[in-house]
Amino acid sequence: MAGVAKPLSALLLCSLLLLCTSTAMIHGKKMRLASSRQPCKRLVFYFHDIIYNGKNAKNATAAIVGAPAWANRTILAAQGHFGDLVLFDDPVTLDNNLHSTPVGRAQGLYFYDGKDVFTAWLGFSFVFNSTEHRGSINFAGADPLLNKTRDISVIGGTGDFFMARGIATLMTDAFEDDVYFRLRVDIKLYECWEKA
Ligand SMILES: *[C@@H]1O[C@H](CO)[C@@H](O)[C@H](O)[C@H]1NC(C)=O
Ligand SMILES: *[C@@H]1O[C@H](CO)[C@@H](O)[C@H](O)[C@H]1NC(C)=O
Ligand SMILES: *[C@@H]1O[C@H](CO)[C@@H](O)[C@H](O)[C@H]1NC(C)=O
Ligand SMILES: *[C@@H]1O[C@H](CO)[C@@H](O)[C@H](O)[C@H]1NC(C)=O
Repeated sequence: MAGVAKPLSALLLCSLLLLCTSTAMIHGKKMRLASSRQPCKRLVFYFHDIIYNGKNAKNATAAIVGAPAWANRTILAAQGHFGDLVLFDDPVTLDNNLHSTPVGRAQGLYFYDGKDVFTAWLGFSFVFNSTEHRGSINFAGADPLLNKTRDISVIGGTGDFFMARGIATLMTDAFEDDVYFRLRVDIKLYECWEKA
């Protein structure tokens, strides 16, 4: 009994004192929690979404794959694009230049889910395979587009971003009609796992 009770009380003690980080180890990685609300890691990227509009098939990185019965999959629907579902495979860059060499891809979907208010829901991953970063960061959440900045959840990650969690602050950095937009993504991780 004592053999069981001891680690348990040690765990309890370390939770109380918030000293658990040194004991948690999985996959050869050690957890680091953010201290005093400062992120344990911060990364800024941009991604570029070029929506197919019937004329730019070669250049497009996103396509409407679902639309309400009153609209079509070529042009975003009226009334806040409500009901449109878009899949994307967008380049991720370190700066705001569409033509910069991508460091990864943003892959996933968004759908417009507000009929009266212009708003969307995002679910996507940043997929990295470069010497700088390998692995993925997964994002999900509501994107109230009319707000200058929007926070969505970082719900997990793989590779260099093993089990990462935090918040990503999105800002629309540029847009051109309904064809192109660029988002600035300021990622603040509050749970980081690092090589032990
Ligand atoms: C799609 O809808 C737009 C806007 O309502 C319209 O201008 C366009 O002609 C439609 N395209 C097709 C292929 O139906
Ligand atoms: C990542 O890059 C390496 C080296 O360039 C390559 O061998 C590997 O297949 C790539 N992995 C993926 C998932 O693209
Ligand atoms: C809207 O933006 C403001 C400032 O840009 C920010 O403080 C607030 O958290 C944002 N609201 C949402 C719902 O993202
Ligand atoms: C691709 O689309 C973007 C956004 O509309 C535009 O800025 C760029 O010039 C286009 N590139 C080509 C080769 O058409």
